[in-house]
Amino acid sequence: SLVNGNEIFAEARKGHYAVGAFNTNNLEWTRAILGAAQEKGTPVLIQTSMGAAKYMGGYELCLNLVQQTIKSMNITVPVIMHLDHGNYEAAKECIEVGYNSVMFDGHDLPFAENLEKTKEIVKLAHAKGMSVEAEVGSIGGEEDGVIGEGELANVEEAKQLNATGVDYLACGIGNIHGQYPDNWTGLKFERLQELADAISTPLVLHGGSGIPKDQIQKAISMGIAKVNVNTECQMAFAKATRKYIEEGHDQNDIKGYDPRKLLAPGTKAIEDIVKSRIDWFGTPSVK
Ligand code: G3H
Ligand code: ZN
Repeated sequence: SLVNGNEIFAEARKGHYAVGAFNTNNLEWTRAILGAAQEKGTPVLIQTSMGAAKYMGGYELCLNLVQQTIKSMNITVPVIMHLDHGNYEAAKECIEVGYNSVMFDGHDLPFAENLEKTKEIVKLAHAKGMSVEAEVGSIGGEEDGVIGEGELANVEEAKQLNATGVDYLACGIGNIHGQYPDNWTGLKFERLQELADAISTPLVLHGGSGIPKDQIQKAISMGIAKVNVNTECQMAFAKATRKYIEEGHDQNDIKGYDPRKLLAPGTKAIEDIVKSRIDWFGTPSVK
């Protein structure tokens, strides 16, 4: 069933585990993410970037897709429908449409404006029982057109943003969207510790793809309660699809070009990544 993220992530932070946040792009992605969570018996957050929602045909369609998939697949684990890296307009629209949770990403605004707009989004979302994620510092790299410098979160700013009443807080701690460069020096645990000491709100680790398991688990033990994963699912999907095509199934098998066959290996690959990350994050089963 669809729920907001308040209790789920607060419990995760208290219990020193995390709940995965996975980006969806279409029907296959949605089925893979929800199916994996159902199999593991764990809560899951499914999120659409502004770009993915535009690609799919709008936020209402995305919400309906998730709702109907929950129904048709008999998904009984808690599911949070979330807007990932939304600007002010997108956050307002998702609150209007009925998402369970929105991220207002004001990292590119002057801090005072980020703070002001976060306050407004919190007010609107909370009035409808929805959760809000804000961002302090920035996540390096680029995701669906959202570009960050990789600036470390400032603890004072984090405290001020937290005081707006946000339900979870994304912080720049050396994390990067997309693939990590070879010369990446790892997560900045000292800064994470300072943030975790100052703030009891669940913290969010973006750019979850490509961070070694031990660093992710250390971050979780310190206060990260939500880990965002996108690129790894995309890469796994592309790899499995390429293999299927290179093996000639689309040419030689009976109707191997049927999209229902062509997209199946990639869908399975996403499901495997999601299940493996749920294990890494230590999300307990609610079944
Ligand atoms: O907001 C989404 C995540 O931060 C995804 O990052 O594509 O590097 O896994 P990633
Ligand atoms: Zn992100």
